[in-house]
Amino acid sequence: MPAPVVGAMKDYLDLEAAIGGYEAAAQEAARLDGVYDSIARLIGASRDEIALMENATVAWDMAFYALRFQPGDRILTAQAEYAANYVAYLQVARRTGAVIEVIPNDETGVLDPDALEAMIDARVKLISITWIPTNGGLVNPAADVGRIARRHGIVYLLDACQAVGQMPVHVAHLNCDILSATGRKFLRGPRGTGFLYVRRSLLTELEPPMIDHFAAPWTGADSYVLRKDARRFETWENNYAARLGLGVATDYAMFLGLDAIQTRCLALAEQLRDQLKSIPGATLHDMGARPAAIVSLSIKGMGGAALKSYLRERSINVSISDPASTLLDSASRQLPPLVRLSPHYYNTEDEIVRAADSIQHFVQSA
Ligand SMILES: Cc1ncc(COP(=O)(O)O)c(C=O)c1O
Repeated sequence: MPAPVVGAMKDYLDLEAAIGGYEAAAQEAARLDGVYDSIARLIGASRDEIALMENATVAWDMAFYALRFQPGDRILTAQAEYAANYVAYLQVARRTGAVIEVIPNDETGVLDPDALEAMIDARVKLISITWIPTNGGLVNPAADVGRIARRHGIVYLLDACQAVGQMPVHVAHLNCDILSATGRKFLRGPRGTGFLYVRRSLLTELEPPMIDHFAAPWTGADSYVLRKDARRFETWENNYAARLGLGVATDYAMFLGLDAIQTRCLALAEQLRDQLKSIPGATLHDMGARPAAIVSLSIKGMGGAALKSYLRERSINVSISDPASTLLDSASRQLPPLVRLSPHYYNTEDEIVRAADSIQHFVQSA
């Protein structure tokens, strides 16, 4: 997190401790309210189309479980779909008789819009894909998918978790009806934050799967009225320090500029891939002609955990992407656990060299 993000959260917690939780929220009401404007600006939406959530998963779930399916309805999704989303499709398919179908990839491993177009019929009720999956740099053609969804009047749900903060994101350009994202990844916000966008025209059609008296004020002994804005997906109690942190992280990213951030991230990722390519036994697994700044790697005959701890000792943080987090993609490509390196704009070229050199050193000394 950038220093201003941490600072805003610490200051807010101090204020809560000094004057009280309700009192701090009242004093900082304008700044807290401004977080909706910040997120709306970030993705080209209106503030009433934004709900602030505790993570991307809850954001996605609240919208997905609000959709209604009949037996035989088709849910079209991507090959590299994220596990949390896919198990939700499975649960809803079991409950309702809807069917899940996977849109094929083209020869570069990217979702094929022509194949999607060929799958469309009147039974397709939802197109729901991950833009950039959890296990690599693949960038699915989210805007092409949106054009198809819009042309056929099909609801389009986009998991933009790893795109937000890494590249420009505009809901009008994407033609998505619903978009979910997290604060804690490329946006550099705090953990335990996320947001949901729901297109205004769809909002009042979507009844949240669970509500409280914030989402739906209790108006009479046997009545409630759902809010008209996207906050019908929220609940009353929230971590306001984290929300402020999310807002500051959003403003910070926009101040730097998402175009500039994307250019820098892509350049660093390309530099890293170039260096990693020459390490004997190292295989890069990022699909597509223009992968994003998530670099995924395996080393022949070695598990990722040992490399991760070797790098950790050198203050280089990487993560391991387990095959089960993108089961269909991992099975079809027979992927082992992948070491995931995600350079961000604040990394230096020297740090990229040091990371690649450390990996080479690890391989040689193993
Ligand atoms: C593609 C994708 N979607 C959603 C999520 C979930 O985000 P959160 O941890 O904020 O719930 C992740 C996290 O790894 C992800 O990779």
